[in-house]
Amino acid sequence: MILFGHLLLANDSEECVTQPGTVRVDDGIITEVNLGDSPKHFDIGGPDALISPGFIDTHLHLPQFDLIGAHGMPLLQWLGEVTFPSEMKWADVDFARAMTDRVVDQLISVGTTGVAAYATVHHESAAAAIETLAGRGVRGVVGQVLMDRQAPADLCRSAGQLIDEAARLQSMFPAGNRVSAAVTPRFAISCSGPLLESAGKLAAETGAIVQTHLAETRQECELVQQLFNQADYVDVYRDAGLLTDRSVLGHGIHLTASDRRKLQQSGAVIAHCPTANSFLRSGSMSWADLNRDSVKLALGSDIGAGYERSMVRVARSMIETAATLGEQYPTAAQAWYAITAGNADALSWSDAGRIVVGASADLVVIEPTIPWQTGASPPLAMLMFAWDDRWITKTLLNGGRE
Ligand code: GUN
Ligand code: ZN
Repeated sequence: MILFGHLLLANDSEECVTQPGTVRVDDGIITEVNLGDSPKHFDIGGPDALISPGFIDTHLHLPQFDLIGAHGMPLLQWLGEVTFPSEMKWADVDFARAMTDRVVDQLISVGTTGVAAYATVHHESAAAAIETLAGRGVRGVVGQVLMDRQAPADLCRSAGQLIDEAARLQSMFPAGNRVSAAVTPRFAISCSGPLLESAGKLAAETGAIVQTHLAETRQECELVQQLFNQADYVDVYRDAGLLTDRSVLGHGIHLTASDRRKLQQSGAVIAHCPTANSFLRSGSMSWADLNRDSVKLALGSDIGAGYERSMVRVARSMIETAATLGEQYPTAAQAWYAITAGNADALSWSDAGRIVVGASADLVVIEPTIPWQTGASPPLAMLMFAWDDRWITKTLLNGGRE
């Protein structure tokens, strides 16, 4: 299969640029990339189409797609009143499987081809979610959520049981596969010290991605301080072996300068979730602070505290948040890089997020209905700010068409 259009290419200065060309796909892999604007033959696309790497969402909660928009309460109240009751539905494996299938439809419709996702504490349902993503061709890391306290009894398990189950999930879906299991302690509040430590050991033994939440609200930070009595929030994760270059930490709004230094030294990534931060009124993350201190940054929808499924709109929200703070902000070309190559790097997916030979063919064909190449604005800024999901005419997952 040959796709033709303006190819969104990542460059060394961590920006995307567009150039006309064709992409050849064989057996799910990109086998040729040729630049030029008059191909002899192509199957998909056209002279006004844009071919982008599929979007990658580094932080979302599969069971929370049905609670998007549910009351902008403060985080801990929202967890107790909205989120935990909703996650209990995943005690039913069939429900979890069917819901994941519905979620995949939504992801494909907005061009998302790769995810780092939280399931729930229910072991069989987490396994079913992984199988469902794999069956549909989505790339991903998915974790059984680990919680042994500060949540309803139905959603807590003993640390021993959780680690046994998480280890079983690792042997079923090891790191390196197109879909694999992530070690997923929910956050410091809902995990005892021994649970965090065992999770850190499991991640070190298996090489799995670790995902958790960090410093999303001031109230959360105060409770963590009471529970763990650590100078910096990141120390809780660092001491448990959970702060490495395979760690993806959601939010990271209320960080100290020494938190940021330790994050930078460890190579851990902050998954910035701007729409969730505004919806729950958690605060505004300073892109400029993290950027200045060389902390790695990825982007996530954080559905369902976040309300935007489209990663293009999440990227736009990152720009808006930074602009509202009156700080330096990323360009549309940098933001587009962030949701493709940047997010792939955050998850250590070396063969994703870029249109290069050898990468898996996770691609989005975009056919804008506006004259995006001839307006006054840079083409990628025009597309990002005027964005319309209906422009997505095809989403290829591993070369397969949906
Ligand atoms: N912190 C702990 N759990 C959650 C969650 O489900 N969503 C968000 N936004 N923050 C969390
Ligand atoms: Zn989250």
